[in-house]
Amino acid sequence: MLKNDHLEQWDRENFFHPSTHLADFARGNVPQRIVTGGQGCHIEDRDGNRLLDAFAGLYCVNVGYGRSDIADAIAAQAKELAYYHSYVGHGTEASITLAKMILDRAPDNMSKVYFGLGGSDANETNVKLIWYYNNILGRPEKKKIISRWRGYHGSGLVTGSLTGLELFHKKFDLPLAQVIHTEAPYYYRRENLEQTEAEFVAHCVAELEAMIDREGADTIAAFIGEPVLGTGGIVPPPEGYWAAIQTVLDKHDILLVADEVVTGFGRLGTMFGSDHYGMKPDLITIAKGLTSAYAPLSGSIVSDKMWKVLEQGTDENGPIGHGWTYSAHPIGAAAGVANLRLIDELGLINNAGEVGAYLNAAMADAFGTHANVGEVRGTGMLCALEFVKQRDGRVYFDASDKVGPSIAAALLAEGVIARAMPQGDILGFAPPFCLTREEADEVVGKTVKAVRAVLG
Ligand SMILES: Cc1ncc(COP(=O)(O)O)c(C=O)c1O
Repeated sequence: MLKNDHLEQWDRENFFHPSTHLADFARGNVPQRIVTGGQGCHIEDRDGNRLLDAFAGLYCVNVGYGRSDIADAIAAQAKELAYYHSYVGHGTEASITLAKMILDRAPDNMSKVYFGLGGSDANETNVKLIWYYNNILGRPEKKKIISRWRGYHGSGLVTGSLTGLELFHKKFDLPLAQVIHTEAPYYYRRENLEQTEAEFVAHCVAELEAMIDREGADTIAAFIGEPVLGTGGIVPPPEGYWAAIQTVLDKHDILLVADEVVTGFGRLGTMFGSDHYGMKPDLITIAKGLTSAYAPLSGSIVSDKMWKVLEQGTDENGPIGHGWTYSAHPIGAAAGVANLRLIDELGLINNAGEVGAYLNAAMADAFGTHANVGEVRGTGMLCALEFVKQRDGRVYFDASDKVGPSIAAALLAEGVIARAMPQGDILGFAPPFCLTREEADEVVGKTVKAVRAVLG
């Protein structure tokens, strides 16, 4: 391939990289990687490195890299019809087929799919639909959204507010007033070390009840949560958490948004995380795994209950005042159809469950008693190691020691990509669903080496 010798320089001079230390990047202190190819669970860069991507990009390339079925579907769609909009009843074969395929896979009470481009805009749509819904029902005060600390729901104005991570609020004047945060279901980080898991769930529920009492249920519209906390640390909820939360929400007529951007379409070994945990959402956010990131596409799956009210709203007010130029973009939709077919044909959800369990067990074997590993946790094709200065008594490292990022860097030097999660010394793994047991062994073996290199 032609090697443009200016590329590194152009990159530093012109490209605004998201989630990057801008000044350090410009100074040349943040390494560059120009990615040129990918196959299965591996990517390649233009310096000739081949890396095992144990985070599937940003937990999105679920079917793995280099799938020509999806590439061919995209090319065919681009040649036949690269674009038409979906306003006022327009559609394409791909977008209509994909909506049907999603509803066939979604929980029974779901009715329609609105298509966007990414997870952030899908959650933006969800908040607008929730506000519209309560206005149509004549409850203009019922508007606040409860999110959890450490939740991740995007980085727009409302969605960055829903996100419960410091970095996404600091200096951006967020969160906005309509969003309030409650306790994260993060048992390892509980304040009271004496609490059992069941007591901790009761504590999370009591915190939520107290918040609803304080604010008034008539001011609270919805609760949003990822079935498994993702960017906040890859934390499966404690046993019984979702059932207990659902009871409180039902009691106060508060809608539930399941943000399944990471968990949707198989990452937990089930089609949706909502199935896995018995959640009964009113809205489901989907993105990443919908196309395995072969093209940008997201969606808000809307329940029957909400849909009826949206219809009533348009009877009373005219067409819904919501839409993007690229809603249901045919190329994204074609990628989605080919991706969901491929997942079925190759039995990848099964593989995510089986090899994910194998990866989690191997990681627990390797690190379960390590003096600097406070917890090995995960479910399906999600796994995390939480590093601590001292396991006994749970003494954390100082953030300025950058232990998590140093271990991720050492692992990268071994040829494996994992993610240093942004808050805490947590190393996250979310490989493509096609990961083999041999590749899982390689991930674990090289993580052992990397941890030894940093912590001794
Ligand atoms: C659970 C969840 N919701 C929403 C988003 C935002 O999606 P996007 O980055 O496509 O806007 C993400 C991204 O990581 C996510 O993990």
